[in-house]
Amino acid sequence: MTLSPYRHEDAGQPPSHFPPYAATVARSPRAPLIRIPQTLTELSGPAGAWDQLMGPAVADLTRQHKGEPIGQRITVSGRVLDDHRRPVPNTLVEIWQCNAAGRYIHIKDQWDAPIDPNFTGAGRVITDSAGAYRFTTIRPGAYPWGNHKNAWRPAHIHLSLLGPAFATRLVTQLYFPDDPLIEIDPIANAVPLAARGRMVARFDIATTQPNFSLGYLFDIFLRGTEATPFETDHE
Ligand SMILES: [Fe+2]
Repeated sequence: MTLSPYRHEDAGQPPSHFPPYAATVARSPRAPLIRIPQTLTELSGPAGAWDQLMGPAVADLTRQHKGEPIGQRITVSGRVLDDHRRPVPNTLVEIWQCNAAGRYIHIKDQWDAPIDPNFTGAGRVITDSAGAYRFTTIRPGAYPWGNHKNAWRPAHIHLSLLGPAFATRLVTQLYFPDDPLIEIDPIANAVPLAARGRMVARFDIATTQPNFSLGYLFDIFLRGTEATPFETDHE
């Protein structure tokens, strides 16, 4: 007997099975998820000790090498908020992205775009007492990904959030407001239309740093009617 794909019930989140995003066909669950009882290990740690575990913040991805990476500098800031718009401090926000030409430093990324020797594309910051985070990087490029004929991912930054415990991890993608690829991207379009805009950062002149970087705002809602769409995997 073939079971049909299991769908979770949150209308604002992407379904695990979304055939236009080809990889979801094979990896989406076919049966309701099994709840695993959480124990002290999952519930208690390592709250508030992310910097001791992961090392100090890496908040400027343009200064990790001898020279400056090629590309448009941007500064991204925002807050992590709960369903009552209360700030969520001590949240580890991990960042990964491709370079300005659309290439990751990754063994599986071998398409014909240059590696930037001055850009790794990985960083991390921790939200402060107001739930705020901020980092500087370069704007990532679009890249081809082979999902279908002439498939290109819109420019995006991957973000992973870890809150009070390992079991609280959430992963999402930040998109840019002037990107024509969003509307034809199967990953972005797996998110219901009403919630899709929550993944798009907003240009902000107040976050823009004179003679240095363009500023974008990206607030992340963990739950509730404004919840940011999250994923269980990434491309
Ligand atoms: Fe990506």
